Amino acid sequence: MLSGKQILLIVAGGIAAYKTLDLARRLRERGACVRCVLTEAGARFVTPLSMAALTGEKVHQDLFSLTDEIEMGHIRLAREADLILVAPATADLMARMGAGMANDLATAVLLATRQPILLAPSMNTAMWEHPATQANVKLLKERGCRSVGPQAGDLACGESGAGRLADVQDILAAIETHFSSGPLSGLRALVTSGPTHEPIDPVRYIANRSSGKQGHAIAKALADAGAEVTLVSGPVSLADPSGLRTLHVETAEQMLAACLGALPADIAICAAAVADWKVKAPAKDKMKKAKGAAPPALELATNPDILAILSTLKKNRPRLVIGFAAETQKVSAFAQEKLKAKGADWILANDVSEGTGTFGGDSNQVHLITHGGVESWPRMSKAEIGAELAGRIAQALKPKASKGKKA
Ligand code: CTP
Repeated sequence: MLSGKQILLIVAGGIAAYKTLDLARRLRERGACVRCVLTEAGARFVTPLSMAALTGEKVHQDLFSLTDEIEMGHIRLAREADLILVAPATADLMARMGAGMANDLATAVLLATRQPILLAPSMNTAMWEHPATQANVKLLKERGCRSVGPQAGDLACGESGAGRLADVQDILAAIETHFSSGPLSGLRALVTSGPTHEPIDPVRYIANRSSGKQGHAIAKALADAGAEVTLVSGPVSLADPSGLRTLHVETAEQMLAACLGALPADIAICAAAVADWKVKAPAKDKMKKAKGAAPPALELATNPDILAILSTLKKNRPRLVIGFAAETQKVSAFAQEKLKAKGADWILANDVSEGTGTFGGDSNQVHLITHGGVESWPRMSKAEIGAELAGRIAQALKPKASKGKKA
């Protein structure tokens, strides 16, 4: 239930705006207090009178309204909301958010807020699929906005495709999930996932076989358990998990910078298969093969060890730093050495030798190595390993709160 939660509903100008009247009503039924900001275009689809009647609150429309600024300035609107919901989040509004504009009340509030923002995009399919819109959505997600929808289906413009506002029930579920108190609520987590690509020249790179499935599953499990998660992902062919922030990187150096930028965090889990080496001086232009010439010699340099760096930070060291050990022999013994060498608190060790199906597969068998010993878990799906790990983390960091609860 949403009892006592302050939701600021920003309604932009799209045909789906009419659905926000029902949304406002359902939010109030669940105990939320709803304030509404209507953009100029939004007010062409929804009247301030109907929204005021359904929310029981004054509707805010004008950045330069003297009375509004005296009674409830835009900074107060931005600050007092527990959650800002933008529905429908139109292509135009998201473009203005992305550019940091504040040329109306809605964008001024969105720029001034430090509160969480949930976007419910809705627009014509071509507008949704346009690279400009996709780039804006990606940017806003990287900055921490969460999103729900859009759905695929028949659109009011007569076309069919992605762009329909998520169902009111789905938007309500996303809001309830946001406020639900899981065993890791109140904790911030950082997860690395996937491989890194280390350039040789503009078209070639060094890579590895990591699919990112385990790291992504862990990030999702932590978010489902209520943690505020930043996932730093190398190049993978997986969709960004919902309910968390995903940052995309290519190289180990970029992954390290993204991780340090995501601190402080309570938990860091390094599940990425970071390339140990990079090419010391990648060629600026594509390397050409000259007839009869010997193959080029690639001089390698060592990449930063992200797990070791996070484990030994003097300032902002996460309370729990967890690494992975991918081994093909003496799995537990090598992993125990790695635990000590890197300064981590826990290591999840797995056997990646041929035939185990760990790389790219949907299941995994891990050993949890702590300073207290080794515990072998049965083979489970990668999602189940994520959930089990989330439960263990809750026990370690919130022993009382997690009593009797399993993530
Ligand atoms: N790791 C990291 N940065 C690196 C290399 C590894 O953060 N540059 C992390 C991985 O995410 C994993 C752990 O360190 O959590 C172990 O990585 P692994 O590749 O198994 O071990 P290495 O340290 O590379 O040692 P070796 O290759 O000798 O087994």
